Amino acid sequence: MLSFASSLDGDKESFAIFVNDKSHYRDKKKLLSKNTAQKINSFLSGLKEKKNNEEYIFSFDISEKQKCFVIKIKNKFESYWPQESGGNFFSYIKKNKDIKKINIYADSLDFERDKLVDFLSQFLFGFNLKSYTFNKYKTLKKETIKQKIDFKVITSIKEKIESKYKYYDAIKEGVFLTRDLVSEPPNVLNPEAYVKEIKKLSKFGLKVKSYNEKDLKKLGLNALLGVGQGSANETYLVTLEWKGKNNSSKKPIAFVGKGVCFDTGGISLKPAKFMEEMKYDMAGSAVVVGLLKSLALRKAKVNAVGVVGLVENMPGSNAQRPGDIVKSYSGKTIEVLNTDAEGRLVLADALSFTEKKYKPKFIIDLATLTGAIIISLGEEYAGLFSNNDELSKNIFQSSQNVNEKVWRLPLHKNYDKLMDSTIADVQNINYAGGAGSITAAQFLQRFITNKTPWAHLDIAGMAFSKKAANLNPGGATGFGVRLLSNLIKKYYE
Ligand code: BES
Ligand code: ZN
Ligand code: ZN
Repeated sequence: MLSFASSLDGDKESFAIFVNDKSHYRDKKKLLSKNTAQKINSFLSGLKEKKNNEEYIFSFDISEKQKCFVIKIKNKFESYWPQESGGNFFSYIKKNKDIKKINIYADSLDFERDKLVDFLSQFLFGFNLKSYTFNKYKTLKKETIKQKIDFKVITSIKEKIESKYKYYDAIKEGVFLTRDLVSEPPNVLNPEAYVKEIKKLSKFGLKVKSYNEKDLKKLGLNALLGVGQGSANETYLVTLEWKGKNNSSKKPIAFVGKGVCFDTGGISLKPAKFMEEMKYDMAGSAVVVGLLKSLALRKAKVNAVGVVGLVENMPGSNAQRPGDIVKSYSGKTIEVLNTDAEGRLVLADALSFTEKKYKPKFIIDLATLTGAIIISLGEEYAGLFSNNDELSKNIFQSSQNVNEKVWRLPLHKNYDKLMDSTIADVQNINYAGGAGSITAAQFLQRFITNKTPWAHLDIAGMAFSKKAANLNPGGATGFGVRLLSNLIKKYYE
């Protein structure tokens, strides 16, 4: 629980303070007793002797019942460090099982006002991101699993901090929705259940429209439909519209996501080992949904649309066969040589549908598209592909700002050629081998027909991690929501 207050009702609770590199605490606002302030300073001078530059969160006992946490602020830090220190602070206090309540003395931050407001709201944002849990399928009482900490921010500029924090809180809600959706097991979150979840977002002011198989057939999204052909669960395409600009004739920006609720590979069946991970093959779509929710919550001054293709890739008597040819929504014919390269079939139709219907300013798609991107970039960077240098540059800059890293890989006509089919317009895999992520991106590019600025983020290595990181406890990461929120805020609002 997080709350804000402008004054302190007694100073007996455990508390946290910020100190700068000089390691001296000045109790400018006279929050603490002289005795406590002295104890802090003698602790800090003890710290000075320890030459450990890595550590920056410490604690000591003021009394048996009262702990003081000290967060040391570096003189120079990256733009994302406030969030990461918040996340690390959460991990630190989680180790102190008996802590139930903490006051955080924001005024101890020795910054000018705007910097203080920004630092602190980001610190709280990081703290909350790291506290995420997904335990709805644990039958143990939730309270015993999640340690509840009352976290009260004491500050003389309560209104300022609260209102800035609201911005980050909206993004946090988006990240949490993305993580929830990705964490759901595939028997629960099938395409139909997913549509129902998205429809719930209408209450925040998003216009949600879903297309079922009948609608999709009529429109001719046969590349998408082919992927779901072997599944007992129906295929859907869902659009989410956010109109945050009064002038609604303004072209929207568009986000498209791969929502393969489970990817068995289809008839080109995947091996059993780690197949369970393919429940997260809908992560791209979950980022789009989480992002649109956060735009609505923070009433972003932008017109944006999200388009997600929701489908299950299963083998079955009616499943698509390797060798099938489908006519996509764009009119181009695709020879499906491998039914496991299904994400690009979903995106092909979702991309051309988005381009035609919305004529957006740009399109960014997100997908857990290729295993090959994990070979090249691992769990550190998402792959970025684009037909537009400016869009690319902005995405790269935002990825640096929030430390959700992307690395641009090339597109080239010689890679494009590898996707020519002998009997159709295009084939869905590159038989020559090599450049698996690039050739997948080349395939997608064929469905951007009106030269709309477009970028593709291959997040196969980033969406899910067995390891915990600074801002998540492990599992679904929500990678992309912070990056795209920053992009919109910085360049398009
Ligand atoms: N969903 C997978 C990609 C993937 C792999 C995501 C590992 C996350 C972790 C995608 O649909 C796929 O199967 N791609 C194939 C393409 C190949 C058949 C050309 C792949 O990467 O092996
Ligand atoms: Zn696949
Ligand atoms: Zn897939």
